[in-house]
Amino acid sequence: MHFLSLLALVPLIAANPVARNNDSPVSLSKARNKYFGTAYQSFYPADGRFLPVLESQFNQYTPENELKWEVVQPQRGVFNWTGADLIFAEAKKTGAIVRGHTLVWHSQLPMWVQNITDASDLKSVMKTHIDAVMGRYGSQMAHIDVVNEPLNENGTWRNSVWYNLLGEEFPRIALDYAHAAAPQVKLYINDYNIESINNKSLAHAAIAKKLLSQGAPLTGYGFQAHFIGGSAPNDTAQAMKMFTDMGLEVAITELDVRVPVNNRARLIRSRDYANAFKVCIDNPKCPGVTIWGVSDETSWVPGVFAGTGSALLFDFDYKPKQAYYAVQNVLKQ
Ligand SMILES: *[C@@H]1O[C@H](CO)[C@@H](O)[C@H](O)[C@H]1NC(C)=O
Ligand SMILES: *[C@@H]1O[C@H](CO)[C@@H](O)[C@H](O)[C@H]1NC(C)=O
Ligand SMILES: *[C@@H]1O[C@H](CO)[C@@H](O)[C@H](O)[C@H]1NC(C)=O
Ligand SMILES: *[C@@H]1O[C@H](CO)[C@@H](O)[C@H](O)[C@H]1NC(C)=O
Ligand SMILES: *[C@@H]1O[C@H](CO)[C@@H](O)[C@H](O)[C@H]1NC(C)=O
Repeated sequence: MHFLSLLALVPLIAANPVARNNDSPVSLSKARNKYFGTAYQSFYPADGRFLPVLESQFNQYTPENELKWEVVQPQRGVFNWTGADLIFAEAKKTGAIVRGHTLVWHSQLPMWVQNITDASDLKSVMKTHIDAVMGRYGSQMAHIDVVNEPLNENGTWRNSVWYNLLGEEFPRIALDYAHAAAPQVKLYINDYNIESINNKSLAHAAIAKKLLSQGAPLTGYGFQAHFIGGSAPNDTAQAMKMFTDMGLEVAITELDVRVPVNNRARLIRSRDYANAFKVCIDNPKCPGVTIWGVSDETSWVPGVFAGTGSALLFDFDYKPKQAYYAVQNVLKQ
């Protein structure tokens, strides 16, 4: 091969996929006025391979655990900001925006809260917690998932200390407290299996409509989008429209596509990723997509859904997978 033509090939072969350029998904998203985000935990940067990918590939961060109640206020009145402070500091350094996650949830909620039996005590505890989180980080957060996963799969309210003591009003109470504490932050309700028209998403749409009619400070819905490769819903655009037609935003907040560990299912995963991005690209009220982790090394999937994995855009070696290029292609179109 001629020396010059060999040189011309070099950028193709040697282009560092980790360096940000105009063709990186994060840049292509930005050009479309959408963020390209990831969740992570504050101790991941200890692996030196993590930070270069985080910093070059993403411009929105979600604390994976660091703002959950059990981490922030493990005992009544005892706050721990160590992990969250690290993530907000990193965002400040890189200019990434932060989606807060989450204030009022039934899970990762300490026993001292779950054990409360008095409604006015629970409201007071909720307010103290929300005031603390919004007071500390409100000026640095774009969004926050105020309420997480309040419904059962059939669309009924989930049993939790929140619902059991405060009833159907608990999301409105939480939204009001969050808005009062930091009025500039966009307030979201976040849930899974609502990326399709089904009983759960229809029930959420009815709740959203009621909240808006009451004047509640609700900005948007989060579609978590924890998909199973090949079984991702095909009506996510319609489900999204159901909410955005009410004037709400809908963000894709926790995207991953898990596949059986013994079957890398590259094409299926790539297609599901591309479709999820296309839905967000096509809806002007979708502000962006957050992927639930940077690389397969740190994904929650294998620990929770045994026998599955490989759910993210970067593999164990922090190399981009086919799905990364599928996302890049759909963002270019
Ligand atoms: C505070 O949280 C960090 C992790 O975010 C943890 O390492 C540390 O042990 C916690 N501190 C206390 C006093 O519990
Ligand atoms: C919660 O209630 C259970 C059952 O009454 C009790 O054993 C436990 O000590 C309580 N935990 C806290 C942190 O209040
Ligand atoms: C959805 O709700 C309807 C009644 O409103 C019920 O007949 C149907 O079985 C439910 N479907 C699922 C999947 O829960
Ligand atoms: C809805 O699901 C919950 C939780 O699985 C269950 O307890 C409840 O009975 C169901 N309600 C209806 C009407 O199917
Ligand atoms: C969408 O998915 C549903 C449920 O999996 C299926 O019944 C339907 O045929 C699919 N529609 C299209 C247009 O692929």
